[in-house]
Amino acid sequence: MNSSVGTTAETSSQRIIPAPCLGWSLVGAEEEQLVLEVLRSQALFRYYGPDPKSPPAMVATLEREFAALVGTRFALAVTSGTAALQVALGALGVGPGDEVIVPAWSWVSCFTAVVRVGARPVLAEVDQSLCLAPGEVARLAGPRTKAVLVVHFQGVAADLDAILAEAEAAGIAVLEDCAESPGALYKGRRVGSLGDIGIFSFQHHKTITSGEGGMVVTNDARRYERAVRMHDVGQFRPFHAAQIEPTETAFCGEQSRMSELTGAVALAQLRKVDRIRSHCRGLSLRLRTHLADLPGISLRPIPDPEGESGIETYFWVATPELRDAFRAELVAAKIPCDQMTGTYAQYNRAYVHSGLAHAPGATPFRPGPDWPDAAYRAESFPRTERLIHRFLVIPVGMKHTLADMDHIGAEVRRIHAQLQLG
Ligand SMILES: Cc1ncc(COP(=O)(O)O)c(C=O)c1O
Repeated sequence: MNSSVGTTAETSSQRIIPAPCLGWSLVGAEEEQLVLEVLRSQALFRYYGPDPKSPPAMVATLEREFAALVGTRFALAVTSGTAALQVALGALGVGPGDEVIVPAWSWVSCFTAVVRVGARPVLAEVDQSLCLAPGEVARLAGPRTKAVLVVHFQGVAADLDAILAEAEAAGIAVLEDCAESPGALYKGRRVGSLGDIGIFSFQHHKTITSGEGGMVVTNDARRYERAVRMHDVGQFRPFHAAQIEPTETAFCGEQSRMSELTGAVALAQLRKVDRIRSHCRGLSLRLRTHLADLPGISLRPIPDPEGESGIETYFWVATPELRDAFRAELVAAKIPCDQMTGTYAQYNRAYVHSGLAHAPGATPFRPGPDWPDAAYRAESFPRTERLIHRFLVIPVGMKHTLADMDHIGAEVRRIHAQLQLG
């Protein structure tokens, strides 16, 4: 627990709860020092700089420390989490004619990245953990399915034992999307290290940030080589060849290399990830002690409670109307309760309704009068629909204290009594 977690003598009515803030709020001397190092070296590109005897080290160090933390053999830094998804899909060889199972409740890029590599996202139900529901891979995997994209939603690892077993039985690859859960664990292992390949994001809202940025991790040398080629217009430079002997035939890739400046910030942030996790987890555990016994409220089940990052606490009430009333009271009490995740259901998004990609031949869909077809309509996801209109979320961050959690807990209990939820 961070030393800033403590209690104060403020009374409930005085207390102002800060807006949630994660890695960006810790940007300070460490980031400054590493960025200055890069600027002073005048070596801004990761593969070479002005001095051939002293190759740039920031992105390389970030990759080495990232792989060591997550527990994978390889880590490859890229420009964003979205780029990381496309690089990972390319590394898995996913392309036109293939299908990828994607949770219906997930970020924009989880769908668009699959479309961008020419494959078809197949939407799957989530359970109350708000992660992919066990049973969905077995239900949806068919002859065209190449992979499942498992999102560890907002600091919580999905129920991986079940999902990994189903994926293995179906003969498909597992891509772990850890964009929202860096540092989280599942049964003692860091997320990103359990599937075939994993990705992370360092966008501003994420647990650790360099403004933009991402990472691909894997234990598989061939997939690493493909990821490197995918992110560097097909090339496999000597830096990577020093790690493994290339065996793949060259192919056309994209360009999503990380710069040394981004690498410097991401490296300083990476060194803070466990501090953020332990601070937020301590806060969320405290908040939940206030909520656990309230009738009419159910807390988000966490497949591995020991492993979560604790960045957000979700709870459900019986109806969307009660949720709206509860939320209005929380807002009136100045409790931050914004759904930072926005409207997440893929089947509600404009690109699904149009079925379009950037050019007619680039979409895996055939939009016509009956589009979207049943697999992309809300009524086909009753489990997800039953869940997503009734929850409230309380995010926590580095500026919150245990006393803030006690205050929020007391306010939730007051509103609960006022709305007669018991
Ligand atoms: C689950 C998930 N995957 C992928 C991404 C994409 O990351 P980025 O914004 O860095 O492209 C995000 C970011 O919001 C995300 O939440």
